[in-house]
Amino acid sequence: MAKSDSLLTVNDIHTYYGDSYVLQGLSLEVASGQIATLLGRNGMGKTTLIRSVAGLTPPRRGTISFKGKSLAGYAPYRISQLGLALVPQGRRIFSALTVRENLLVPTSKLAGRKGQGNGQRGRWNLTTVMEEFPQLAERAAQSGGSLSGGEQQMLAIGRALMANPDLILMDEPSEGLAPVLVTQFGEIMQSIREQGHSILLVEQNFGLAMDVADYVYVITSGRIAYHATPKELEEETEVLDQHLGI
Ligand SMILES: Nc1ncnc2c1ncn2[C@@H]1O[C@H](COP(=O)(O)OP(=O)(O)O)[C@@H](O)[C@H]1O
Ligand SMILES: [Mg+2]
Repeated sequence: MAKSDSLLTVNDIHTYYGDSYVLQGLSLEVASGQIATLLGRNGMGKTTLIRSVAGLTPPRRGTISFKGKSLAGYAPYRISQLGLALVPQGRRIFSALTVRENLLVPTSKLAGRKGQGNGQRGRWNLTTVMEEFPQLAERAAQSGGSLSGGEQQMLAIGRALMANPDLILMDEPSEGLAPVLVTQFGEIMQSIREQGHSILLVEQNFGLAMDVADYVYVITSGRIAYHATPKELEEETEVLDQHLGI
């Protein structure tokens, strides 16, 4: 990947929870217009990477830059204003709010953000999100808590799109979904990429990750153990066995 195409650059970051040393010199890049996937077993530091990038648990050492700008010292809300949206693990939608209200949460904070680039960004609003996810349109007035797991995941993705982000961080969106829905979410991610957004996808679902990724990173114990195109990774039986148990 050419350096100039890098939208997100994570360079040698070290992230802790108190004394607990989790990310131990992790580096990766997400290229503009691409889906990069981070694969790894439970407890390896995937969510911690997402939290580091989003500014929730900033690294103590190392640098993270987004669109060429260092995120050091940026609070999470400022990072989201720069065009970086989060679909957190476990969805974290508001159960008591309606679907429509859930979708409007980010716009109250990011009102007027147009996004830059290919002219496609800036297109997301209540109408276009509902068009992308007809199931949400049907349930616009229902409470978030009344939705199925798959619908809640769509809502979490729709909510992220409402901010018209350049990059979406998705933390295990397929977790707990039936296999038929996993396929549908793969299609949703590809559609989002086609509409000009880049994605950093954290996954345990190997098939989904390999289907949608332009580039794959494998994490073990807070470091990247291997990175390659999906095609290259498929051939690496030792990496698959050792780091992913496949
Ligand atoms: N808030 C926290 N405080 C202390 N340790 C944590 C916290 N969150 C996660 N950890 C630890 O950090 C490591 C990486 O966790 P995490 O990033 O959630 O892994 P993954 O998302 O890959 O399953 C694990 O050992 C986990 O127990
Ligand atoms: Mg996690």
